[in-house]
Amino acid sequence: MSKKIAFVTGGTGGLGTSICRSLVDEGFTVVAGYYSGGKHEKAQAWQEAQRKDGYEIEIAYGDVTDADSCAKCVAAVEEKLGASIDVLVNNAGITRDGQFKKMSWEQWDEVLTANLDSMFHMTRLVINGMLDKGWGRVINISSVNAQKGQFGQCNYSAAKAGIHGFTKALAQEVARKGVTVNTVSPGYIKTEMVAKIAQDIQDKITSTIPVGRFGTPEEIGRLVAFVADEESSYITGADLSINGGLHMS
Ligand code: CAA
Repeated sequence: MSKKIAFVTGGTGGLGTSICRSLVDEGFTVVAGYYSGGKHEKAQAWQEAQRKDGYEIEIAYGDVTDADSCAKCVAAVEEKLGASIDVLVNNAGITRDGQFKKMSWEQWDEVLTANLDSMFHMTRLVINGMLDKGWGRVINISSVNAQKGQFGQCNYSAAKAGIHGFTKALAQEVARKGVTVNTVSPGYIKTEMVAKIAQDIQDKITSTIPVGRFGTPEEIGRLVAFVADEESSYITGADLSINGGLHMS
């Protein structure tokens, strides 16, 4: 039997890299979607670095904020691999933090477009293939800050909370066709995104995490691979928290 294909948006980034590697470990053929402002060399260097570590991962260029770019990307992947995508991990995301009283429309729009509109563009392109096959996994990466809100993140919290609404609605539409749709909501994980927060604020946040530390990308990768697994077909419409106890619901 040929291997199932998993596509991870933002696959070359902090969380994305670990998600890709975990899915390779689980036996998927993995494609890392990247944008990087069109810096293809950066993605090629990333691919080479993964290869040196024993991970063979395809890379595919696409802008998740742009429907046409997504369509070209998915078509190219499916043509190259000769099959449709079985697992979609909607992981690409950005922050533009700032207090709402000072927030610009651009800060709002960029975050909503990259983090939420991307769900529409990418999922719309793969869902019918999954339904036709009678098997699929859509895994949407949200955030603890969708669940609890966060000072300075009205845009990000809104987009990430919207993701889970999308998850719950779509999960109901496709449940009988063997397709599961879930949200994974990480807390503060050691990535470049979190490293951008001022150190004194990072220290304050750490002091509020019961486990006493930020999470690792590998911990998120393991959970995503678990949800993608063949045996996880009874998990759907769920919001799986992985946040060191920062928010308990
Ligand atoms: N709650 C209440 N008040 C707060 C606060 C909080 N959490 N944080 C700051 N304030 C207060 C400050 O005490 C200060 O009050 P005074 O003016 O009375 O002194 C006021 O708000 C202004 O604070 P700042 O100087 O920090 O404001 P700023 O505008 O320079 O910075 C900010 C705002 C950039 C949003 C900064 O607070 C910040 O970086 N916060 C962290 C945001 C965050 O957690 N982002 C997560 C990014 S990672 C990610 O998103 C991944 C994921 O999914 C988890």
